[in-house]
Amino acid sequence: MPQPRKIIIDTDPGQDDAAAIMLALGSPEELDLLGITTVAGNVPLQLTQRNARIVCELSNRPDVKVFAGADRPVARPLVTAEHVHGKTGLDGPVLEEPRMALQAQHAVDFIVECVMTHEPGEVTLCTLGPLTNIALAFEKEPRIVARLHEIVMMGGGFFEGGNITPAAEFNIFVDPEAADRVLRAGVPIVMMPLDVTHKVLTLRRRVERIKAIGSRAAVAMAEMLEFFERFDIEKYGSDGGPLHDPTVVAYLLKPELFSGRDCNVEIEVASSLTVGMTVVDWWHVTDRKRNARVMRDIDAEGFFELLTERLARL
Ligand code: RIB
Ligand code: CA
Repeated sequence: MPQPRKIIIDTDPGQDDAAAIMLALGSPEELDLLGITTVAGNVPLQLTQRNARIVCELSNRPDVKVFAGADRPVARPLVTAEHVHGKTGLDGPVLEEPRMALQAQHAVDFIVECVMTHEPGEVTLCTLGPLTNIALAFEKEPRIVARLHEIVMMGGGFFEGGNITPAAEFNIFVDPEAADRVLRAGVPIVMMPLDVTHKVLTLRRRVERIKAIGSRAAVAMAEMLEFFERFDIEKYGSDGGPLHDPTVVAYLLKPELFSGRDCNVEIEVASSLTVGMTVVDWWHVTDRKRNARVMRDIDAEGFFELLTERLARL
């Protein structure tokens, strides 16, 4: 069995972030979670750092180091998504306040220290929210850019359009300047856009299978999904909502579930109409650098099989 892959999860929990964290914690043979860094996004930082600790305790992993990072984007006011995630960001189940401590170190300092103290190529960043912490870490210590193995990120949309505006996906829209810096930095990037995540819907039978696991973590997760999906069901008229963030962790565990191609991706930062749009040169009509592997398809049944099987281990 190869050594577990060392990862940092940067996140703004959010019910779908919680599913991604639980998927990672249910996969200790493959993933060594060095730390969870939190960022303002779905809800303010005070709540995302609280929520990350709640998810670790639900997963019986109060030992995981959780850090608080940026409480606002690098260059614009914070936009949040309580309309999707509820006022706590983890609405759905009745949850206790976390008992495990928040780490004193700032998330950006942790990212820099962690990447600089590991061998080059050892650490992978999994980003589930706005890219503020990552852009700040690159600015603080540019040497980490060349030391990272890769970034696997949930963000963007192309054929699928946007979800917070007609053109922009939420994680990119919240901090387009940060996303622009990260996409231009030169780190190998795997991108999970809405084109993929809108194909993994929390169908009733899928949520019931998770609930049937019966553990505290699984029942809480099912209740989170039952809350989280209502907004997208209403909006898209779909059976279930798109389970965005766990696609990032699933890619590390089973990349064969996904298909996509290397493309140039650039971020719109100026237009008031399309700010936050990920402009993906899918058909290679330009000679711009192919700076990201953009996923477009996923085996949805295989994804939920994996997620359910790993949740059952918590
Ligand atoms: O657009 C979906 C993304 O925005 C997900 O990461 C969700 O958690 C929110 O952060
Ligand atoms: Ca998220």
